[in-house]
Amino acid sequence: MKVLAVASEAYPLVKTGGLADVVGALPRALKPFGIEVRTLLPGYPAVMAALGEGKAVHRYADLFGGPARLVAGNAKGLEVIALDAPQLFARPGNIYLGPDGKDWGDNAQRYAAFALAAAGIARGLIKGYTPDLVHAHDWQGALVPVYLKFGGHGPPSVLTVHNIAFQGLFPATIFPALHLPKEAFAIDGLEYYGSVSYLKGGLQTAHAITTVSPGYAQEICNSDFGMGLDGVLRSRRGVVSGIVNGIDTEVWNPAADPDIAQTYDANTLDRRAINKRAVEQRFGLEPGDGILHCVVSRLTGQKGMDILSGSLDWLADSGARLALLGSGDAAIEAGIHAAAARHKGRIGVATGYDEALSHLLQAGADSILIPSRFEPCGLTQLYGLRYGCVPIVARTGGLADTIIDANDAALAAGVATGFQFLPVDGPTLESALSRAADIYADRDTWRAMQRQGMKAELSWTRSAGAYARLYRRLVKREQT
Ligand code: ADP
Ligand code: GLC
Repeated sequence: MKVLAVASEAYPLVKTGGLADVVGALPRALKPFGIEVRTLLPGYPAVMAALGEGKAVHRYADLFGGPARLVAGNAKGLEVIALDAPQLFARPGNIYLGPDGKDWGDNAQRYAAFALAAAGIARGLIKGYTPDLVHAHDWQGALVPVYLKFGGHGPPSVLTVHNIAFQGLFPATIFPALHLPKEAFAIDGLEYYGSVSYLKGGLQTAHAITTVSPGYAQEICNSDFGMGLDGVLRSRRGVVSGIVNGIDTEVWNPAADPDIAQTYDANTLDRRAINKRAVEQRFGLEPGDGILHCVVSRLTGQKGMDILSGSLDWLADSGARLALLGSGDAAIEAGIHAAAARHKGRIGVATGYDEALSHLLQAGADSILIPSRFEPCGLTQLYGLRYGCVPIVARTGGLADTIIDANDAALAAGVATGFQFLPVDGPTLESALSRAADIYADRDTWRAMQRQGMKAELSWTRSAGAYARLYRRLVKREQT
């Protein structure tokens, strides 16, 4: 079966978050199930550079304001089709934001062009390649099923929601530029309270909707987490499902990780101490054997980083240490930097995005903190499990689905892998940190938790199988 994946990010070509990890890993995981994936990506500079010459498989005289090409080839192990549209994608810096830190003013056009190209490919625009199914991701891909539905015939489509907070909401004035028939601007299309919502359009028209954990699939069907789209999701409840993300166990393997100071496995956990020393040095922390937490995160309200920031004095005064890697919201960054200045040697911060350093933190810290207000799946807790870096997480979405809380029963049964807490507020986070510190003091129990986490089945095999079954069901239904 041939599947066209449509996404705005794919590791290792272009990444701002977990979406890239998932889109980058799925093709390889689906192969054993007989599924050949090609991934359509916007022709960002990094994508075009990795693709090199490639092969031009289609040319547009004008696509949303300029000439464009579809260029196919293999880029860093991924079978890619890039939409090379320089007027839309050949820009330096962040793929979504301009130099002023705000969304590019033409994001509506950029991702409409992208989805229109995907729909074209799905209908056989490229000679010799017609996919059996299209799998679009997030709001940047959400217009694909809309174009397929309102433009006539096309293969079945799956839309995966990685984060319902990002909806691709634009003023109605952009509608005429989308090349869609008038009836698409309606309640069963992409009209949303008088505006245009790409994600709503996709949720209305995709043959199947998935999200990245069963827990989040339930959550977004109710008003606390649906962010205004819960009604649409409830009306399509029968086609909504949750498939939990896996991880790339080759990229994330503490026994053979080139980015860490010392490799190790579940039988040689003592060697982690060398990585811990390396983290202390990188983050200017006082050396010691006491508990060392880490954070690898976007610094945003979603991730609860404002809550964590408010508890940093408590954390340092409790005798714990923290190494934090992240960037994001300016006010949150400032709060964290101020706390680090107040607690030199106890709290160390690295601002920015550093893939290699994120590996070292998972390999050297004792625990990873993830106090998210909502979390569709979350990958850093899975990397934590794999690296023996015990996750301390909010009990929400995919975090709740993947971490087994160290309550008395779980400890007695030897199945605990981390700590969960709720609600996400300062006192509750602090009590979870206290619980973790208490167990950390009992090294045998802590070790047992690390080993239990390292045993967890985190690979893509099971979830890729679930996607493969879904694809086959949809294609079969289409053929009958
Ligand atoms: P989200 O996609 O919502 O940001 P995930 O947990 O699904 O959250 O994925 C985040 C991904 O981005 C992980 O691979 C994580 O290691 C990585 N990441 C986040 N912040 C940084 C950073 N500052 N430096 C390096 N990697 C980061
Ligand atoms: C989104 C979510 C995150 C999820 C990732 C990959 O960025 O915020 O929870 O892990 O997508 O699916």
